[in-house]
Amino acid sequence: MAQQPDWVKEAWNKTAEKVSKTSRRIGSGFPHASVNGKYVLEPAHWWTAGFWPGLLWLVYRDTKDTALKTIAEECEAKLDQVIADYYRLDHDIGFMWTLTSVARYKLLGEEESKRRALLAANLLSARFNIKGRYIRAWNPWRPGEDNSGWAIIDCMMNLPLLYWASSVTGDPRFKHIAVEHSDTVLTHFIRPDGSVNHIVVFDPATGEKIGVNGGQGYSAESAWSRGAAWALYGMALGYKYTGEERYLQAAKQVAHFFIANLPEDFVPHWDFRLPPDVEKYRDSSAGACAACGLLLLSKQVADAESALYRQAGERMLHSLYSNYGAWDREDEEGLILHGTSHYPERRNIDVPLIYGDYYFAEGIAQLLGHDGLF
Ligand code: GLY
Repeated sequence: MAQQPDWVKEAWNKTAEKVSKTSRRIGSGFPHASVNGKYVLEPAHWWTAGFWPGLLWLVYRDTKDTALKTIAEECEAKLDQVIADYYRLDHDIGFMWTLTSVARYKLLGEEESKRRALLAANLLSARFNIKGRYIRAWNPWRPGEDNSGWAIIDCMMNLPLLYWASSVTGDPRFKHIAVEHSDTVLTHFIRPDGSVNHIVVFDPATGEKIGVNGGQGYSAESAWSRGAAWALYGMALGYKYTGEERYLQAAKQVAHFFIANLPEDFVPHWDFRLPPDVEKYRDSSAGACAACGLLLLSKQVADAESALYRQAGERMLHSLYSNYGAWDREDEEGLILHGTSHYPERRNIDVPLIYGDYYFAEGIAQLLGHDGLF
């Protein structure tokens, strides 16, 4: 393992300390964005429900603080109702159960968690459209809406649940679906310059590609940075679980685009391709997630190449730690400032986001020699 600079341990200690403190207020709630210094709690079915328990598991893995374990377990149990309710389930099943049930199963071997995660993996698999070879993203957001042909780049991060399900059951069905979806992403989402589409629309009956939507990016032609981060890390994970060279190449292609478009402080704007009159807010969460992908990538390539990815990931995390961290701010629950959740809908702009906090902690844990939870 590469030598760690001093700030890494310091960043981890501050993360663990702040998470432990915040856990006394948040408990088994589901934070998403910190507004005016306080995390707003969402219902259990919201796509971000896994990140807080995931963060607690990361810290628990190191400190063995049973209070954090108990809270993470309570969060996981609350997700049972989301499965029972059914209608709110979308493709983010992957984020939600990977960071709760799969994490607990990997750390503690609990059978109950394995059962829950397998149930979730089956529900994710059922969203696969055979004709279009994509996993359907969402259910209708409003009455009458038909989005059955929509697939989104974020789904790359949901696929590890399927790889995990195949590995624990020995049944390759789940992995086949993950591979099919990933190949669709290679064909229709990743552009020649390494930027990515957020939403691709298919005809759900024939599987034909119909078009592209801007989604959370500025426009259909722009380059939403968190989408690129989902693609980068998702493709590196795809390579980890399949050994398929094409996913490694795709991860590198997106990584090069990402690194080349970073501003001076190495933390991305929310979109890499903005017209001059649009506010260039940062999205620290995109930086944190991309950094995790870069660190994984650095372990997947030969030594000569490895340093490029490791240094870029490390530099991003260092900038997040020293320029964006809310370490000594008593009035702020978030760890990492300046995330942008949804600029086009003007939601949660320039605030800490729970996935920014999660990926920052995961990145630091990776620098300390641990695996991520995906
Ligand atoms: N997966 C939704 C987002 O990245 O905001």
